[in-house]
Amino acid sequence: MTQTCPPWLLAANWKMNMDHLQTLEFIRELSILMPEKEAENSGVEMAIFPPFTSLRTAQVFSTSYQVALSLGAQDVSPHPSGAFTGEVSASMLARLGCKYVLVGHSESRKNHHETREELVGKAKNAIASQMTPILCVGEEEKGGEGMEEICSQAEEVFCDLGKEEREKVIVSYEPVWAIGSSVTASPQRISRAASALKADLFKKFGASPRILYGGSVNEGNIESLKGLGLGGFLVGRASLSPAEFTAIFRCLEKGKGLA
Ligand code: 13P
Repeated sequence: MTQTCPPWLLAANWKMNMDHLQTLEFIRELSILMPEKEAENSGVEMAIFPPFTSLRTAQVFSTSYQVALSLGAQDVSPHPSGAFTGEVSASMLARLGCKYVLVGHSESRKNHHETREELVGKAKNAIASQMTPILCVGEEEKGGEGMEEICSQAEEVFCDLGKEEREKVIVSYEPVWAIGSSVTASPQRISRAASALKADLFKKFGASPRILYGGSVNEGNIESLKGLGLGGFLVGRASLSPAEFTAIFRCLEKGKGLA
């Protein structure tokens, strides 16, 4: 099943923040700031990626507070089920209402030493459970060209996916040096990266994935990042505040549609 979403995907990667009580409070505040009807007709899909322990709370209370929010998980097991202590399977996440799963975020790549085979397994299991993997790629160094590095990170997962699986993947360009820093990559660099990824994945696999950007996005810089051929944003720190997340949403809503 192909998942569709509006022109913009605004995704909140909460990382290891927001326990289930804080998640409940976030959703309550969002329901005041962002009436469901407004969000539904906005052309912007909002999604939150809380820690696993907050997913059920997010699922239940976004429904009861009538907040138009999609749900995503920050990681998934590369295995479908079985003796894998500490891991969470794709089918478990799907049953909690998750639509998206992050695969290969630079923090997971680094902290868990993820292998290429694991990334492929994560993407495949997410897709088999009707979820959309968001494959994160990003160069380590600020100074270098970086385009080959990000294309090869995407290729090494795409090459082991089938044609139909490739059509379901979203790619998020997240330069490692821009994450958690005080600056985003320049608009020119983001635009170049989005074009390089699109051209490379089309040439090699006939795939045309939606491209997101992540790395120090906030309400002060979102306007400058809108016209770059992107399909959305993956926001870390600035997504922890309902007010700032809503401000980013409103900026995208004004622009409506892929720029
Ligand atoms: P920051 O927005 O805090 O830089 O984090 C971005 C990120 O890691 C998105 O996945």
